[in-house]
Amino acid sequence: MDRIRIVGGNELNGVIPISGAKNAALPLMIASLLTSDTLTLENVPHLADVELLLRILGNHGVDVSVNGRRERQDEGYSRTIHFTCRTIVDTTAPYELVSKMRASFWVIGPLLAREGRARVSLPGGCAIGTRPVDLFIEGLTALGATMEIDGGYINATAPKGGLIGGTYTFPKVSVGATHVMLMAASLARGTTVINNAAREPEVVDLANCLNAMGAKISGAGTSTITIEGVHSLSGARHRVLPDRIETGTYAMAVAMTGGDVTLEGTDFALLDTALEAVRRAGAEITVTPSGLRVVGHGNAIRPVDVVTEPYPGFPTDLQAQFMGLMTRANGVSHVTETIFENRFMHVQELARLGARITLSGQTARIEGVSRLRGAPVMATDLRASVSLVIAGLAAEGETTVSRVYHLDRGFERLEEKLTRCGAVVERITD
Ligand code: EPZ
Repeated sequence: MDRIRIVGGNELNGVIPISGAKNAALPLMIASLLTSDTLTLENVPHLADVELLLRILGNHGVDVSVNGRRERQDEGYSRTIHFTCRTIVDTTAPYELVSKMRASFWVIGPLLAREGRARVSLPGGCAIGTRPVDLFIEGLTALGATMEIDGGYINATAPKGGLIGGTYTFPKVSVGATHVMLMAASLARGTTVINNAAREPEVVDLANCLNAMGAKISGAGTSTITIEGVHSLSGARHRVLPDRIETGTYAMAVAMTGGDVTLEGTDFALLDTALEAVRRAGAEITVTPSGLRVVGHGNAIRPVDVVTEPYPGFPTDLQAQFMGLMTRANGVSHVTETIFENRFMHVQELARLGARITLSGQTARIEGVSRLRGAPVMATDLRASVSLVIAGLAAEGETTVSRVYHLDRGFERLEEKLTRCGAVVERITD
């Protein structure tokens, strides 16, 4: 199994191109199930989760072609992919595939809307918490679907003539269930109103793409979204928005190591809450014509408290990385996780690098230390793993991060991007 070896201590200086967002690309790819025309997505990141979803969509009948042209001539990161689903050949999403990636459960929305039925495996447990699917069941039921659980699967059936527009108020904000409601309601008869919808930029990106396909969605990006159902959707061409989590991760890395890095092709507004926290910690962040410039001062990190919240709050997907940054702050900070009940697996591993962190319920108290020392570490999820990478960059000596497959799920060419900025990072294949 691959490992990443890091020799810490170097500043980061240079340019990092930000990839298309994984968490936008996944629902956009799934939206291709809604039409028999071709959906073309530009700026699709080359990630393990994307490759897995391509396989899953193939099972349902989506024909995929990658045009091979590299959008960034010198980097070759992102791809333009054409998705065509003339007919849905299978409405079942099996356990073997859904259990590997929770987002694949979201096919339930388009399958139900287009074919009137779907049999989708329950996603099962997850390293960062239990992550149930009750909100999907309630939401789709509000559109007239019958939802039955049988043998670890959800059998969803639309009424004769298809789903019917309805009103649903989420008791809790869910990104995935909002995506599914947008897709399902786009092809329902009549108008759907979703209250307490997720406001994440990835939801807006999906709504924009669906509208380009002929959907009638208004209010995406606010808590109330209205969808007037249409009879059918057509193809479209859409560019995946930049990855705000990758942006925040590299900004935190620079704040921690010191240096001067331009994050190219990204947008401050996608993650202003998180970047304001990095500013308060002492980094200078300026908006430039090509993206963002981050200047970090390494040893002069100020302690900052953060609480994760649905967008526009501080994102849970940057919580581990921010905690990594705070391990070197000049004082005590607190990081509170409110989205997932078990998203602190990085704490023990950061401690192996010399961090001083104590947990009390959903809050971590971090007492900054003047230096971290490299060590072998591993993590059990994507964002936790990358927090160890950025801590390793700022640590003295050698850190090896194992279970690199977690990083490959969400960070495109991580070691190459960091190496180009002066870091000593290499992949070791055993
Ligand atoms: C999305 O997951 C992201 N994944 C996650 O990123 C991200 O952490 C999360 O949103 C929150 O921002 C993708 O976009 C692919 P939720 P999602 O439904 O949609 C509870 C990463 O590292 N809930 O918004 O699955 C749930 O348990 C990943 O890239 C229910 O209770 O998250 C959680 O506590 C990790 N019932 C909360 O809602 C439900 O039916 C928010 O989850 C659904 C969710």
